[in-house]
Order: sequence, then structure tokens, then C-alpha cells
Amino acid sequence: MQMQQTVRLFDIGVLLSEVLDFISSDLVDHHKIVAYIADCLAGELDMPEESRKRAMLAGLAHDIGALSLRERMDALKFELENPHRHAGLGASFLEMADPFSDAAPIVRRHHEPWNHGDCAPDTPEEAHIVHLADRVSVLIDPRREILGQVDGIRAKIRRYEGALFAPHIVDAFELLATRESFWFSLTRPLLGASLKRRGRLMGEVSLDIDALGGLARLFCRLIDYRSRFTATHSSGVAAVASLLAHYTGMSDEDARLMEVAGYFHDIGKLAVPLEIIEKPAALNKDEFNIVKSHAFYTYYLLDRIPMLHTVRDWAALHHERLNGKGYPFHYTSEKIPLGARVMAVADVFTAMTEDRPFRKAMRLTEAMWTIGNMADSMTLDGDIVRVLASHMDEINDVRGTAQREALESYASFGMDMKRAV
Ligand SMILES: [Fe+2]
Ligand SMILES: [Fe+2]
Ligand SMILES: [Fe+2]
Repeated sequence: MQMQQTVRLFDIGVLLSEVLDFISSDLVDHHKIVAYIADCLAGELDMPEESRKRAMLAGLAHDIGALSLRERMDALKFELENPHRHAGLGASFLEMADPFSDAAPIVRRHHEPWNHGDCAPDTPEEAHIVHLADRVSVLIDPRREILGQVDGIRAKIRRYEGALFAPHIVDAFELLATRESFWFSLTRPLLGASLKRRGRLMGEVSLDIDALGGLARLFCRLIDYRSRFTATHSSGVAAVASLLAHYTGMSDEDARLMEVAGYFHDIGKLAVPLEIIEKPAALNKDEFNIVKSHAFYTYYLLDRIPMLHTVRDWAALHHERLNGKGYPFHYTSEKIPLGARVMAVADVFTAMTEDRPFRKAMRLTEAMWTIGNMADSMTLDGDIVRVLASHMDEINDVRGTAQREALESYASFGMDMKRAV
């Protein structure tokens, strides 16, 4: 892969919004609906194209900081008790990753009441737009016919005009609300198409490997923060995969891309319920079936972005096995690329040497013995396992350091991993 490639901004925004949807089915489409309403409001207000882009991107990402289930459910209530925690945390995440950094100041203030203008004069206009769009979204009951809800929603928004919401934005909303087309466009199955039409105008952004690394780390945090049992798994896999790729003879560029793929490899786990991820015992058949879906979801999510197709294969095929007994595609050795084989070894090694809900970390020698058996049965690639064995102490140190650093960085965000569930 070339070190500098372009990607559609809209695709990256939708990827993030779908990942957020996965975390909680109650939030499905919430980010897309907010993005669509925010874009319509910005259009009605004749805002410049750059502002519209920012408002849409912020809409797609705005509740990224609502990490716990309680916070995610709270974000769906009309009157929030303490919205500033998730808004601030979300902005801190986004600040570190282009192209989302543009949306960070909007996300930080997306619950700022309009009448706090004197205390928060630097609140961007787009934040007030996302605020109103967000509150309209939570007032919509997706189980009911939409037009019958419009009068109630308008009345509620009007009631907070001048307090929560800027009067000129409420006026713009009133204009939109008179059109049935607006409401139909934001309900299923039309929402996707409505959004895509506007999304095309967001254009492309160019990402080099550093920017891609930053973006991948943003997704990695979402996966790892979810549970203290997986808190540093993706960070560990990324570090091990990258070093192992280097010793396997992959180029420096590919080794960096392996790090990116490592951050992404379990992104589909966001679709697996937490009770299963944290179950302090072996999984039953049904539970294991659900766990299996994660590799396919990783594939599905990364598939939409052509720039990430190499990363998709290296990341999503980490449970394929050379003997064809892996999942989800049951590929055999000729169809499993080197990157995915390295990832499989990195994943197994990291999983064995870290604590899990139902067992403590294995000792290094015990882990290497088990991994050696997996090579014998053509579960893992024997050549890569031999490379791991000859550098096992160094690779294990790098894993430990990466995982400790990840924990420190979570602490710096004020995250208590026990509460992150
Ligand atoms: Fe929010
Ligand atoms: Fe929201
Ligand atoms: Fe996995």
C-alpha cells in the first residue's frame, strides 16, 4: 500500500457511526439521523460547505464519549443530567485522530445550552445545530409512524427556544418540519440513501500512515475500553503483529500497516454482547456462535473503504486456519495472506499471555508450547511460529509495554476500567 492515500470522508464518518451503533442496539441509526438533520439545518441556514461538512461529521461521531451502557442510554433521554462528561471525553478522543479532529470542538459543546452563550462564547454554531438535531432525534419513536409525531416534536423544541436552542436554528427547524419529505428521509429504509446523497459532497481526505495509525487507535480505544478484560488486547496484538511482521521479513511499511490492522482486528467484537465477552467460564455453543460473528463484522465494516482492503484482509482473517477449520470463510492456506497468518499468531500469543475472564495469563513457556502444537496441527503457520519462538522474549516485552502504555493512556482520560462496562 502506498503511504499516502485518499479516502472518502463520508465513508470514514459512517464507519465510525456504525461502530457506535454496534455498541448498543438502542442507538442504531442515532448518529446517522443526527448527521442528516444537522446537515439539513446547516443547508437551511445557508452555511458554507465547510461548516456543513463539519456539522455532518460531528453528527456521525457526537456520542462517541458515551462509553458505558448507562451513559449511552442517558444520551437518549431528552433532559440529560450530566452531558458534559461524554461530550468532553468524546472530543478528547476525536482531537487525536484526523479527519475527526475537525469535529472535536463541535462534539465538545454539543450539549451547550444556547443561553450559556455568555459563559461559552466560543461554542461553534455547528455545535448548536448538532444539539438541536440530537434532541429531535431522541424525540422520534422509531416504532411509530413518523408524521403523527411531528406536532409533539415541534412543540417540545419550541418550548426550549432561547434557552436550550438558538432561536434562528429553531426557525430553520420549523421550516424543515413542515415538509413531509424531511421526515420520510430520516426514517428507514430511506435514511441511508438520503445521507449518502449528501455525503458524496463531503469529498475526500488524504491519509498518510501516521494519520491512519491515529485513526486506527481511535477505533482500538472503543474496542478496548468496553471491558476491563479486553482493555488492552488490541493494543497488545498491534504491537506483537508489527514486530512479528518485521521479523518475518515484511517491509517496514507493511509492518506499520500490520500495527493498524492489529488495532482494527477485533472491531467486530463491538457487536458481541458484553455478558458473553466477560463470561467467567467457557462459552456454550450459542455463545460461541455469536462470538464467531466478530471476525465477519470486522470484514464487513472495513470492506466499505477501498483504501483499507489490505488492512481488512490482515485484520478480519485472523481466525482463519491453514487447515480450513477457522472462520468465517473457512479459507485454507493458499487463500490466507501472510499478514493474516502473522495476525493469527499475534492474536493467539497475546490472548494467552494476558489475563482473561476465566483464567490468569499463561506462563510464556506454556503459551509457546501450546502455540507449537497449533503449528503442528496446521492451525497456525509453523514458519511464523518459529520466528515468534526465536524472538519470544523481545516480542513478549513489547507486548507488555504496549499494554501497560494503553492502560496508562486510559487512566489519563479518567477512565476507570472497572467502570467502563
Ligand atoms: Fe450527546
Ligand atoms: Fe446523541
Ligand atoms: Fe478475534
